[in-house]
Amino acid sequence: MKFPSHVSLSQETREELIELLNTCLANAIDLHWQVKQAHWNVRGKHFISRHELFDAVADHVRKHADDFAERAGALGGYAEGTIRLAIRNSELEEYDLAAVSGEEHVRALLLRITAYAASIRQGIHRSENLEDPVSEDLLTRILAEVEQDLWFLESHLYGSTVQASRREGTPTGIPEGLPPPPHA
Ligand SMILES: [Fe+2]
Repeated sequence: MKFPSHVSLSQETREELIELLNTCLANAIDLHWQVKQAHWNVRGKHFISRHELFDAVADHVRKHADDFAERAGALGGYAEGTIRLAIRNSELEEYDLAAVSGEEHVRALLLRITAYAASIRQGIHRSENLEDPVSEDLLTRILAEVEQDLWFLESHLYGSTVQASRREGTPTGIPEGLPPPPHA
């Protein structure tokens, strides 16, 4: 524990929460710059709409990083928020540096944001088990925004996916490289 905290949770509980919040922080910092990479480097059809959508998503993720870091601080923790610390702790894989078209960037982002969301969902369950409704609520609100962004992104693939799968006679309609939706 780095700093004193008057939050009425045991030190052990706070340490576990701080650790999970720092993992979420590292993922958010890594993801923020990955989404910016897409924002800066996308080319081709629908350039402006995708360029702007990626910037909106990056803005959301940047704010998540601040929320994770400040909750860790409220619990008496040290926010591990430099780029180097974030890269050491991030659970995400490096961005797809070969992506060029909007569709390639959307696919690359969906894979990484899905992993980001899964980690936050795991954090919600852990916060619930640790009986900290404040962290649980914070993570739940962030996950709701992440899942809305996933919807915005995956909607960009829908038409091309359906058309492609009809052309190719594939039954699933699931974009290549993406995990199937849990309730498909
Ligand atoms: Fe920009």
